[in-house]
Amino acid sequence: MTDASGPQRIIIGCDHAAYQLKETLKTAMQAQGIPVTDVGTYSEASMDYPDTGKTVAEKVSSGEYERGILICGTGLGMSMVANKYPHVRAALCNDLFSATMSRRHNNANILVMGGRVIGDILALEILSTWLKTAFEAGRHQRRLDKFDSI
Ligand code: RB5
Repeated sequence: MTDASGPQRIIIGCDHAAYQLKETLKTAMQAQGIPVTDVGTYSEASMDYPDTGKTVAEKVSSGEYERGILICGTGLGMSMVANKYPHVRAALCNDLFSATMSRRHNNANILVMGGRVIGDILALEILSTWLKTAFEAGRHQRRLDKFDSI
């Protein structure tokens, strides 16, 4: 799912609406030897997405984790929470093109998906693409520097 230069410190979080998808993604990463820290939620019992979104976003913002994955029903709430944090570039990607470009042009460090929007197979493909696609830097770094300074 990732090459030798792929991210080594990955953290994943979800809400109840995406619990099953989170388990699927985590199992797939573990099967491929990709280390992943799961910060919940741990069941389909209703909970509030900002609680796990905050945990993942804080740890990516601080640099403790290189990449994060956040999933909820639509992906919208998790995106909104995560992008409040400095140095977080959370990208809602429910298609493969967005997943590729979020890495190549935006250097996204949190992948967000909607568990009620896409199926498991597409989500696995999006994750795989997102983990292995490199940032192109150059003019894109200049653009990231500009919005980092806002
Ligand atoms: C939960 O019902 C739902 O609102 C949540 O998973 C997410 O879609 C929020 O943006």
